[in-house]
Amino acid sequence: MGSDKRTGHQGTGPGAITPDGCAVELYSRLPVGAEPDIVAAAVPAGAHVLELGCGVGRVTHPLLERGFAVTAVDESPEMLDRVRGARTLCSPIEDLDLDETFDVVMLASFLVHAGEAEVRRALLRTCVRHLAAGGCVLIQREGEDWHRDLPRERVDPSGFTVRIVSAEPAGDGVNSVYAEYEFPDATWTQTFLSRPLTKEQFEGALAEVGLRVDTYLTEDRTWVRAGLAIQGYVPGRGVSGVAGSVRGPGMPPPGSRHARLPASAGRIHRKAGGEP
Ligand SMILES: C[S@@+](CC[C@H](N)C(=O)[O-])C[C@H]1O[C@@H](n2cnc3c(N)ncnc32)[C@H](O)[C@@H]1O
Repeated sequence: MGSDKRTGHQGTGPGAITPDGCAVELYSRLPVGAEPDIVAAAVPAGAHVLELGCGVGRVTHPLLERGFAVTAVDESPEMLDRVRGARTLCSPIEDLDLDETFDVVMLASFLVHAGEAEVRRALLRTCVRHLAAGGCVLIQREGEDWHRDLPRERVDPSGFTVRIVSAEPAGDGVNSVYAEYEFPDATWTQTFLSRPLTKEQFEGALAEVGLRVDTYLTEDRTWVRAGLAIQGYVPGRGVSGVAGSVRGPGMPPPGSRHARLPASAGRIHRKAGGEP
C-alpha cells in the first residue's frame, strides 16, 4: 500500500493510494488522450525521454509504441509496477540526480503547480540537471481559469465521470482542489494543493532555473516546450556538463523491478493530480 502522504494531499478509493492522493487501480483505467501526439509533434523522432511522474505508464506506453526510449520516474512503486517496457526508477523527482542527460525531459500532470515554490524550483531544477545539450523540457501546466470555472465535470466515453468540485484558498496563493473520479463500481477522490500561475508567473518560474519558453504547443497554452535560456548555462551551477553530485540509479532492491533512489525525508508538500 502507499507510503507517507504529502501535506495537503489525500486520496480515497480502492487499493494503494500514492503520496499525492492517486488511487493506483482506478488511475490505471484512465485512457490516454492527446498527450503522446503532442509530445511526438514537439520532439525529434526516437528521442530518449525522461518522464517525471509517469504513474502507471498511461503516456509512457504510447510513447514507447511510437519508437521513443523512455526512462520513467515515479515515487510510487505501485504505480511503477504497472509500467511495461520502459526503464523505471522509483524516486521523488526533486531528489533525482542521475549521471545522465536526456534529449527530452517531461514534467506533465501539472506538477509545476506545486504548492510550495521551493518544491516547484526543485522539480524544475531536476529537469535542467538532466537536460542534454540542445535538448528540451516539455511541461504541462493548468489552463488559466481552471480554479475559477468550478464545479465542472466531463463524462468520458470510456465510462467514468471526472468532476473538479472545488478550489478553496489554502493560504499564500495556493488552493486546495477537490476532485472526484466516478466509475460504475468505484470512486476515487483526491484533494491536492495547487498554486495557480499566470503565464507571466509561469515564465518567471522557468527563468528562476535558467529555462525559457521556446513555444506553447497547444492553443490553450497548457503544453509548453522550453529550453535553457542561455545554452550551456545553468544558474547557480555554471556551465552545464560540469557535473555536481553524481548519483547513479543503482540496482533494483531485491523483490523490486525498479531501481529505487534514496528518498529525502520531510519533503511532503507537492501536487500531482488534477485532470489527466
Ligand atoms: C496524476 S498522476 C499522472 C501520471 C502520468 N503523468 C499520467 O499522465 O498518466 C501523477 C503521478 O506523479 C507521481 N508524483 C507526483 N509528484 C511526484 C514527485 N514529486 N516525485 C515523484 N513522483 C511524483 C505520483 O505518484 C503519480 O503517479
